[in-house]
Amino acid sequence: MTSSPATPGAALPAAPTAIEDGALAAILADFDLAPADLGARARVTASAGDAPDLRERLDEALPEDGLALVVVAGERDDAALAEERNRLWPLLHVVAIYDLSAAGVRRRTLGGREVVQHEAHAPAMVLAARRKTHVMSPDATVEKFDQNASGWNGEAGSAGYPHFRWMRKFVADFAKTSKPSPSVLDFGSGAGWVGIEAALRLGARELCFFDPSPEMVRIVEDNCRANHIADFTGRTGFGEDPPFADHEPFDLVLSSGVLSFSPDPERWFEGLASCVAPGGELVIGDIHRESRGMRRRRRAKPLLPVRELNAWTRDEARRELERRGFVHRAGAGYQLTRPIPEAMYVNEAKLGGVLTTPLLLANRVASALDRGLGSPLQGQFDSWVMRFERPV
Ligand SMILES: C[S@@+](CC[C@H](N)C(=O)[O-])C[C@H]1O[C@@H](n2cnc3c(N)ncnc32)[C@H](O)[C@@H]1O
Repeated sequence: MTSSPATPGAALPAAPTAIEDGALAAILADFDLAPADLGARARVTASAGDAPDLRERLDEALPEDGLALVVVAGERDDAALAEERNRLWPLLHVVAIYDLSAAGVRRRTLGGREVVQHEAHAPAMVLAARRKTHVMSPDATVEKFDQNASGWNGEAGSAGYPHFRWMRKFVADFAKTSKPSPSVLDFGSGAGWVGIEAALRLGARELCFFDPSPEMVRIVEDNCRANHIADFTGRTGFGEDPPFADHEPFDLVLSSGVLSFSPDPERWFEGLASCVAPGGELVIGDIHRESRGMRRRRRAKPLLPVRELNAWTRDEARRELERRGFVHRAGAGYQLTRPIPEAMYVNEAKLGGVLTTPLLLANRVASALDRGLGSPLQGQFDSWVMRFERPV
């Protein structure tokens, strides 16, 4: 785990217990910091139940790229740690948890667990957190998606690939524009599969796409060539300031799984709206913050990807678009919620894909049913998709 050497200071809230100097040094070292770096260190104390006040005081104490170490006394189970994490959000996002005990200092991140020091300490737990704005900064986004770009392209032949491609096709198939040879923009394209599926089906005259990650854009270009898309243009950029301002607005804009990554949704929605031509169509989809499975994960898991906390519900996103003059035409849930994602994980990690076909079938049937009924079942799905028109 690394952090910029310029990272100034740490805030240590939630006394009564402060951690021992040896444990503090081990945690700081994990972020490439030394106790001597803590010139601007602030100590903020708070008790349970005063989250807004705690966040306000942390907000005052913590620099933009600072690290907050939130100490909770004794041992806590995951549900209690998740509650602490929820208290810090939306100011801070927990990136690691340190477990101090007689066995030493153990670090937990989304990537796994590791012992970082073998010295015995009094039991305590430390949540390491950064500002949400720092975790979701443009630089952090580019770095994260450049690193994971091939993962977002999917691995043809793997147990999860049929579901991966089906999800992109489900979103792309929401586009219904009757414009002949429409111009199409994939807004936050990732590896580009949503835009490519839509462009092929609708006979698009051109496919444009952008993504913050240059590596993603390169992969989409390869995917376009492999899928015989004749006219395509890829650029790097962010939805908050879309890089196609010099292009006519598009007949069809698709944005799949991007909103939840935006640190500035107001500007993101403005950017999205500006790309859709009058009389044009918008298809937008993302994860559903309030599905049964997502709610349970927020209650039970102290470490979560930032997008799960930052996600929107379908109704919230719909209001933002209607406020900007868009007319809602259709919606559906897709990706059945718990326990289906858990079963898919077991299928892919342990069963070599023997359940891929029935699980995908369950998803296809449930999503088609929801769509056919006008989508009354959103809470049963981890993702939503909607189609809008922009009036002329
Ligand atoms: C979950 S992936 C989805 C990719 C693709 N649309 C799909 O459905 O497969 C999210 C993508 O959004 C991009 N992204 C993150 N923040 C963004 C922003 N503020 N504006 C536009 N794209 C963003 C990421 O680089 C990443 O490629």
